[in-house]
Amino acid sequence: MIFRQLFEPISSTYTYLLGCEETGQAVLIDPVIVAIDRDVAEVNRLGLTLAYTLETHIHADHITAGLELKKKVGSKIAAPAYDRLPCSDFGIEEGKPFQVGGITLQPFHTPGHTDGHFAYLFGDRVFTGDALLIEGCGRTDFQNGDADALYKSVREKLFSLPDDVLVYPGHDYDDRHVSSIAQEKKRNPRLGKERTLEEFKNIMANLKLPYPMFIDYAVPGNKQCGVCPCDLPENLEKYCQHMSDSPQG
Ligand SMILES: [Fe+2]
Repeated sequence: MIFRQLFEPISSTYTYLLGCEETGQAVLIDPVIVAIDRDVAEVNRLGLTLAYTLETHIHADHITAGLELKKKVGSKIAAPAYDRLPCSDFGIEEGKPFQVGGITLQPFHTPGHTDGHFAYLFGDRVFTGDALLIEGCGRTDFQNGDADALYKSVREKLFSLPDDVLVYPGHDYDDRHVSSIAQEKKRNPRLGKERTLEEFKNIMANLKLPYPMFIDYAVPGNKQCGVCPCDLPENLEKYCQHMSDSPQG
């Protein structure tokens, strides 16, 4: 099995590349449109064929590369069935393993950051999207976010996984790469130890985070599986410019 953790610095997003050595099939979890050339180069360098892109949720901070990768290399788009995206080729549901070559992912519905959010267990690793970050979690104040639901998703579902399962988050803003279920149970200041639901709701209600600057473009773009709007203000153009593009281009 081939595994790569790839970082996109504009939105601090982690994309995960999983490759099956026997079949040469690969899947990219949460690819970012600005990093499409890097991802294609990495897939090619490893001699893999990208069979699927797979989303944890409808992102508000970047645009997925799902649709552009489909056009460029013929990959299919898998996304939570809950979100009913007409552009997706495969609807992910809890309890139904998602298979690409010899790679099997177990999907877990983990609502709270968004209502349709999923995490994916792959052997001794879990890709937690924005439900569980390293010593943090995704915000719950947009996209049908719900602190009650997130508390249950993390404490009842993710924290039920074995302690030694490695936690690979959808983002990190502080150069951390990986954690574990045991570590998050002990160290997560929002959701760990004996933190109660009431305490968690109180924390989430008082984060005082700014309005997400890209959300009004990212969400509609991601509901189309990754379309960049043509009316982007200049200060947001970097969210759609491919990393290899020249400043003019
Ligand atoms: Fe998110």
